[in-house]
Amino acid sequence: MRDPAIGEILVQADELNHRIDQLGTEIARDYAGREPVLLVGVLKGALFFLSDLMRRLDVPCEVDFMAVASYGSATQSSGVVRILKDLDAVIEDRHVLVVEDIVDSGLTLQYLVRNLRARGPASLEVCALLTKPARRQVELEPRYVGFEIPDRFVIGYGLDHQERYRNLPYVAVLQSSART
Ligand code: IMP
Repeated sequence: MRDPAIGEILVQADELNHRIDQLGTEIARDYAGREPVLLVGVLKGALFFLSDLMRRLDVPCEVDFMAVASYGSATQSSGVVRILKDLDAVIEDRHVLVVEDIVDSGLTLQYLVRNLRARGPASLEVCALLTKPARRQVELEPRYVGFEIPDRFVIGYGLDHQERYRNLPYVAVLQSSART
């Protein structure tokens, strides 16, 4: 797609594929004997990551979704989170794996983890495709991480800027001239 807002590609499609293969193998091994694992996809950014990861999991699994909105500016989260769509499933005594697109400040995930932990799951872990360690405001490291990236605003493979660019098959930097 030709668009001046699309900058440097940080993670190519084949790198995504390869890393998600590895994550799938690792997660399936870790959850063997603790099935079925309930994958909780965080909408909308985790859309492609969740569907690609789930197809690589060679263990019984189920899927559910949450949608959250973080109050704040377009590119800065505030830590105050509103649940737009809650889970259909009851997660008490379930093995839950939250699948996130990106951990930036960590505030959204911190809220989500606290909220889900209060429901009494048997286990609760997080798998994030991307993480920006330089931006972290809270101590929180996902159990599984796809790629560590620098402090840049990225788009593609589910990640958006004002709802666009989710369909890019790679992860690219959003050109600063396109940021509002
Ligand atoms: P946090 O609360 O600051 O960790 O922000 C997490 C949420 O902000 C993610 O789930 C994304 O929806 C969004 N976000 C953070 N960084 C980026 C980015 O570089 N591109 C697109 N969305 C982002």
